[in-house]
Amino acid sequence: MRLSVMGCGYLGAVHAACMADFGHEVIGVDVDERKIADLQQAKAPFFEPGLPELLKRATESGRLSFTTDATQVAHTPDAPTVHFVCVGTPQRAGEFAADTRYVDAAVQALIPHLQPGDLVVGKSTVPVGTAARLAGLISEAVPGAMLAWNPEFLREGFAVQDTQHPDRIVYGLPSDPEQAAQAKALLDQVYASPLSENTPVITSDYATAELVKTAANAFLATKISFINAMAEVCEAAGADVSTLATAIGHDERIGPKFLGAGLGFGGGCLPKDIRAFMARAGELGADQALTFLREVDAINMRRRIRMVDLAREVLQGSFLGRKVTVLGAAFKPESDDIRDSPALNVAAQIRLQGAEVVVTDPAALENARRVWPDLHYEDKIEVACDGADVVLLLTEWKQYKAIDPAKLAGIVRERNVLDGRNALDPHAWRTAGWTYRALGRPR
Ligand code: UGA
Repeated sequence: MRLSVMGCGYLGAVHAACMADFGHEVIGVDVDERKIADLQQAKAPFFEPGLPELLKRATESGRLSFTTDATQVAHTPDAPTVHFVCVGTPQRAGEFAADTRYVDAAVQALIPHLQPGDLVVGKSTVPVGTAARLAGLISEAVPGAMLAWNPEFLREGFAVQDTQHPDRIVYGLPSDPEQAAQAKALLDQVYASPLSENTPVITSDYATAELVKTAANAFLATKISFINAMAEVCEAAGADVSTLATAIGHDERIGPKFLGAGLGFGGGCLPKDIRAFMARAGELGADQALTFLREVDAINMRRRIRMVDLAREVLQGSFLGRKVTVLGAAFKPESDDIRDSPALNVAAQIRLQGAEVVVTDPAALENARRVWPDLHYEDKIEVACDGADVVLLLTEWKQYKAIDPAKLAGIVRERNVLDGRNALDPHAWRTAGWTYRALGRPR
């Protein structure tokens, strides 16, 4: 099949490469010249395990190309074209609502090239109601051209695996039965590879498909804030949230995943998606249904403040004249994404309170330097920790979990370690003479 992918960020670049790997002929479009120049040379413009190899293979096959020129998505005369919309929907400045201007621009750029029978497929996370509005624009401009909503559930760090082997595929289809059948047939052809693995397919109307994505992210955020709320109670009661999470996770109805207590969630999705969801529910008059998400957000933001307070506490009440080393800048391991990074937020707060802060990260330092130029960065763990009064583990990269506490003990000034992700072995660190503190665990 011939496919186009509008937007080549985390979602679009991975989607384009995976679709070409499935055997389709794919053209990726983005307005960012630097990103497209990298992709044209089969270089991944961001850190994502497995993506460089996939880009190389797909580019060499001749099935994958990239351009900044949207006119190149033009229709092929012999078969319908499927156009994916994979652009971002960031939080609007000063508001909770999502900014859908890039989705609108992508659809407007496609419209002049659509023919009857073509299918536009939205993958971006959008406020419910967006698909119906866009479908109206498309069918008015090009009768017979269609829209489907096919939300994406990939996680950064596992994006290739999640796209190649999704847990489920959701098709939000047009209300007209004939168009719905046509759109479904095209999508089944696109996803023939995962469908051959018996991946469940859920078909629905547009609004349900849009809401499946938002609800999934809201549930994940709630699960994390739930365990972090338990961490607050554990701290107050002298209990251990890690043991508690393991124990409740054995109940199959609860499950062990996404019960990692610590510094909470960040990134380009969960924080802005729950806020956009609340804003949209408000517009629909259903704001009461989601007031709990305000609490989910508040618990999450409180974790960052608690981490700063804990660091100040182990330094006897003041950061002045103290050196604080932060392990991790990315919002999570296996990513160089620093959008709404809890680690950088904590680092910046501590610096503002007078400490010398040194940040290290295996992948995200270039991005961190660009956005937070006032912090001090070091590539090597040992250099970053040299003379530190306290070491904060804020992103649980495997490199940090593998640190030998006995070795690091000789480098720092004071042996204080704060485990913001409950990722270290308290016993090993304490045995090596460290004061180990964590969120939600006893001293
Ligand atoms: C999230 C969802 O997991 C994906 O399913 C979804 O497709 C994606 O958003 C999206 O909307 O595009 P992602 O933002 O890549 O994916 O990251 P997650 O793995 O969900 O982690 C989010 C944050 O939660 C990270 O900061 C992580 O450190 C934190 N987290 C995760 C915890 O604090 N505890 C946990 O137990 C798990």
